[in-house]
Amino acid sequence: MIWRMKKDRTKMKTQYFTTPIYYVNAKPHLGHAYTSIAVDTATRFKKMAGVDTYFLTGTDEHGDKIVQAAEKQNTSPKAYADKISRLFQDLLPALNVENNHFIRTTDPSHIKIVEALLSKIYDSGDIYFSSYEGLYCFGCERFYQERELVEGKCPDHGVAPQLIKESNYFFKMGKYQDWLIDHIKTHPGFISPSQYETEILSFLKEPLEDLCISRPKTRLTWGITLPFDKDYVTYVWFDALVNYISALGYPDGDLFKKFWPGTRHFVAKDIIKPHGIYWPIMLKAAGIEIYNGLNVHGFWNVKGSKMSKSIGNVTDPLEIIKEYGVDPFRYFLIREMAFGLDANFTEDILVTRINSDLANDLGNLFSRVLSMTVRYFKGEVQAPHPETETEKNLSLAPEAAKTIEEYKQAMALCEFHKGVGAVWHYIGFMNKYIDTTEPWTLAKDKATLPVLETVLYNLIEGLRVVSCLIYPIMPQTSVKIQKALGIAKKTKEFYSLEEASVWGQVQKGTQIQSPEILFPRIDTKQHEPKTPIPEIKAFTPALKEEITIEDFLKIDLRTGTVMGAEKIEKSNKLLKLRVDLGAETRQIIAGIAKDYSLDDIIGKEVIVVANLKEAMLMGELSQGMILATDSKKRLVLSGFDKPVKPGHPVK
Ligand code: MSP
Repeated sequence: MIWRMKKDRTKMKTQYFTTPIYYVNAKPHLGHAYTSIAVDTATRFKKMAGVDTYFLTGTDEHGDKIVQAAEKQNTSPKAYADKISRLFQDLLPALNVENNHFIRTTDPSHIKIVEALLSKIYDSGDIYFSSYEGLYCFGCERFYQERELVEGKCPDHGVAPQLIKESNYFFKMGKYQDWLIDHIKTHPGFISPSQYETEILSFLKEPLEDLCISRPKTRLTWGITLPFDKDYVTYVWFDALVNYISALGYPDGDLFKKFWPGTRHFVAKDIIKPHGIYWPIMLKAAGIEIYNGLNVHGFWNVKGSKMSKSIGNVTDPLEIIKEYGVDPFRYFLIREMAFGLDANFTEDILVTRINSDLANDLGNLFSRVLSMTVRYFKGEVQAPHPETETEKNLSLAPEAAKTIEEYKQAMALCEFHKGVGAVWHYIGFMNKYIDTTEPWTLAKDKATLPVLETVLYNLIEGLRVVSCLIYPIMPQTSVKIQKALGIAKKTKEFYSLEEASVWGQVQKGTQIQSPEILFPRIDTKQHEPKTPIPEIKAFTPALKEEITIEDFLKIDLRTGTVMGAEKIEKSNKLLKLRVDLGAETRQIIAGIAKDYSLDDIIGKEVIVVANLKEAMLMGELSQGMILATDSKKRLVLSGFDKPVKPGHPVK
């Protein structure tokens, strides 16, 4: 295979980061906040790495969804879009997200570029006119193939699509299918993490249908008119995806020339198809360089399900910030979600993280180091004693260097949870260092003064490193710690990674302040579960016959990650799963199709009965079984409360 590596994303000097542009049919929720914070974190990290960055977000304002939402409020689509777009814009400073530009698809400059792009592709012969009859879901604003439906219904909206017949314009996507497969295979990291690349490649195993890119104005007027037929507006995705280049002033804008080659788009797994298939093909057809890559994250589930108005679990980020503060919220989102996998949001987990990671680990370290410096040296930084340091092995520098390296590698690949994990490991290391060196004992004896000075200097330096590394995740806390250490930058908010890495920067004589409380502990009694746990009176069904531990140990349970899923023809119950067990990938047929969509299941970490005899189900080989329970008449898969590696025994 020829490897036509795109520029290595970890080494580019200019980078362009984007969030999806959000629909304005409802106000922003926690899921939208997460993507914006994740992109903000990536951008701030890159700035620390000396990269020139550009960060775009915005709102997607055309299409049926918006018309329907506006109608419900008795207002015009534009007035409605103005109102909701404002909410998305106002959310950004509240999240401390620093975007360079906010685009709206109703901006005249955007509309002009969509028209230009449509004309270009039309003139090149890749758009044709044809009549079409198909099943159309108004919620998704797209036609469905019968095989994509679940029991005849749209998998996302649970309603049967309507059969409509109309003449429309089509984009010859099929023509570019082989090119796209080759592009993905020869550009490692184009779609990341890799399970989503696998998913896109598995979509591409089926022939790619041409894409219907118009809607007749008899049905929808709220869109951009096709430049070559005034009776039609363009399909919302053909309009929306173009935002990424129109915002940079394609084709001649300086921003476009400078930033487009270093583009990384961030999306959740719901929209990988338009981003991983339509968009690269649109770019190819228009003769535009293909973007550098797509970073895909999982869903935040609230109360076990994807947020939705009908379930009533839509979480407002502003309410959480009001209660807990913006930095704890950002920390929680970045730490708790393994990028690429789903995560659960509950206030209880948030409070636990705040109390243990922030108040206990970081907060205590900060307050111990500062108060000891104030107590023993009136807040004045003392120089370390190199000989004592070597002799007693007191240097915190080697562990800091190791932490910075792990952090850099993880953050560069958007494995933010691992990057943060490395910093917290170092914080734990320093807290233990205090416990073992016992500065309070050293302070009692003049003879151990050099040791005390060396210990405190190392701790101050270690805290400086931590303050630098947490900047992308908790910018306010980073600056707060630096101010208290007397090292806040005057010209900008952050230290570069290079500066952060040089040990020994806090100067002797620097004045340190008495510590304020960084993160107040939250009283957990106020957060007791609101619904009482029901009492279980008897087992139903009745317990099976007792077994010994030896019997149990015969069952080889392993952790597995679902890498791919397909429906099985003629069965509305079974899904064909590809499950990574570390040493090998198994095909497992599972009866979960009624309760899990393909999107839901891919990326899930499950428990697999790995030594179950192989069996054929509906003509398909099944090499194991995944564990689930029946709850409220629906199947719920068993899993883990933290990310795990595939193939590990479950005991
Ligand atoms: N308008 C399109 C995107 C066009 S981009 C050219 C759209 N909008 S959306 O409002 O539905 O936003 C979807 C995106 O919002 C997801 O891809 C993700 O970034 C974010 N999220 C929405 N719900 C989410 C969760 N529950 N969890 C995590 N992210 C979520 O699709």
